Amino acid sequence: MNRTDTGQVPSGIQRVPLPDSQTDFPGVPYSVMVLKPGYCRSESGGTFRADGTISLVTGPRTILVDTGGPWDRDFLLQTLKERGLDPGDVNLVVGTHGHSDHVGNLNLFPAAMMIVGYDVSEGDRYRPNKLSEGERFRVDEHVCVVPTPGHTGQDVSVEVKGTFAGTVLIAGDLFECCADEDSWRDLSMNSTVQEVNRQEALRTADVIIPGHGLPFKVVRS
Ligand SMILES: [Fe+2]
Repeated sequence: MNRTDTGQVPSGIQRVPLPDSQTDFPGVPYSVMVLKPGYCRSESGGTFRADGTISLVTGPRTILVDTGGPWDRDFLLQTLKERGLDPGDVNLVVGTHGHSDHVGNLNLFPAAMMIVGYDVSEGDRYRPNKLSEGERFRVDEHVCVVPTPGHTGQDVSVEVKGTFAGTVLIAGDLFECCADEDSWRDLSMNSTVQEVNRQEALRTADVIIPGHGLPFKVVRS
């Protein structure tokens, strides 16, 4: 991924790459860290290699946002362990959308509340919610799950307020990467809807963690 490009969007909003090493966003009460940045690389013959970004939110609740693909199982367990966490310590797992490179390890977390797209469940009990009506699912006063469809019909993002870097939006494939103007539309089921949600994200977030690249900063002039 080219980390020197700067994505330009209308209204004086700029997307600015952060240093590759800046993957942790501490804060009070919640901190956000990227456990594994996603990627997407074209290959010859029309195939591509892709994995979704895996992010962890720690604070009053421990929240995993996307689990990577099934091939990430050992990496995920090891990385959580290095942070002193067992899978049972994770209270909430959010799958931003139902693609295999984002929700490949849900079964490591049977005790957690799950939000996958617009489904909210605890074990086999599914809870009513209004994500499909465009309403946010409030985890607490600092963390919300926000419906951000377009890439698929049921994408969600996780908004974390109050980090030292400001509001962090863990956006799944609402954004592919910092400079994705040449790629996101081809991967979108509804680019008109996705564009609206992208613009809203750029109006409200200070840092965006995309589904297939490193975090970037949003600068509004
Ligand atoms: Fe996807």
